Amino acid sequence: MSQDTAVGLIPVTVARIDDVTPEIRTLRLSAEDGHYLPGFSGGSHITVGIDLDGDTHLRNAYSLMSSPYDTSHYDIAVRRMESGRGGSRFMHQLRPGDRLGISPPVNLFPIQIHGKLHVFLVGGIGITPVFPQVEELERAGAAFEVHVSCRTPADAVLAHRLADRFGKRVHLRYTRTEGRPDFEAILARRPLGSHAYICGPSTMIADARAAARRLGWSDSHVHFEQFVEQKSGKPFDLVLARSGITLRVPAQVSPLEVLEANGISIPYLCRGGACGQCETRILRTDCAIEHHDVWLSEAAKACNSHFMPCISRADGGTLVVDL
Ligand code: FES
Repeated sequence: MSQDTAVGLIPVTVARIDDVTPEIRTLRLSAEDGHYLPGFSGGSHITVGIDLDGDTHLRNAYSLMSSPYDTSHYDIAVRRMESGRGGSRFMHQLRPGDRLGISPPVNLFPIQIHGKLHVFLVGGIGITPVFPQVEELERAGAAFEVHVSCRTPADAVLAHRLADRFGKRVHLRYTRTEGRPDFEAILARRPLGSHAYICGPSTMIADARAAARRLGWSDSHVHFEQFVEQKSGKPFDLVLARSGITLRVPAQVSPLEVLEANGISIPYLCRGGACGQCETRILRTDCAIEHHDVWLSEAAKACNSHFMPCISRADGGTLVVDL
C-alpha cells in the first residue's frame, strides 16, 4: 500500500508493526530519507495523513510512545474503531514498508518537570504518552507513580511493558473484576507541589478531575489530555466568505481536513476540539451546528457564533464562515 504524502507532512515508512492485542497495534515509523525525525518531549502527538480512497483525506492524531532520546523512529499505538470514520481501520491494514505522511510533533500534555511528585491516572490506550513522559522523569530523577486501569489482563499488554521498565511505580487495576479506581484515595495526602496527569476515556477524565477538585487540588496541577473522537455526519457546503469559495464537506471528513485538502491552512494543534486554535467565526447557516468540541462554552455553542472545524460540523445544508 502506498500513501501520497500531503504538502507539509514528513514522509515516513512503516518500519515495524506489532499487533499487541486484537484491537491495538503499535507501528514504528522511520523517516524515508533515513535521517532523524524532529525532536519531541513526552506527551507529544503527531497527526498521520490518511488517504482513504484517493478522494477522502483524513488526519488522525496519535501520541508518541517511543523514547524522546532516540528520534531515529517514532512509535505510535492505534486502537481499531469499527464504528469510526475509517482512519483506524486503515492504520490496521498497513504493512511494513508502506509510506505515510506525518506532521511534526506538538505537545499539549507536557510534564511539569519541577513538580514534587508526578501521579499518572491512565485508562486503556491513554497509556501511550506516558512512556516518554516517565522516561523523562526517570532521567531527571523525579518521583512518579502510574496508576493504569485496563478491562482485563488481555488488555494490559502495554501496561505490562511499562511495569517491566518501571517496576513497582506502575500500579495496575483490572476494572472488570476489581471495579473502577478510587481516584480520591489515589490523590489524597500527596505532598504540596504534586502534579496529576490524566489520560483515558472522557468519563475517566471527568471522574479523576472531579476527585482532584474535591480534594482541593489546584487546576494548575491537574493536567489531562482529551482527544474527542472524530464523528461522521451529514455532508454539507462550507462557504468561505472572504474568497467566495464553496467546499463540499463529505460525511466522514472534518471541515479542517477539507480545507487542508484544498490547500487552505488555518491554525490547529490538537485536531480534537480541545486547544481552541482552529476556532472559526460563523457568519450564517441554514442548519444546526453539531458542536463536538470541549473548548467552547455551552453558552457559546448555543448561540452558534463560532465553531471548531477540526471536530465540529454542520448538520447538512450550508455553513458560511469568516475565512
Ligand atoms: S485544533 Fe484544537 S480545537 Fe481545533
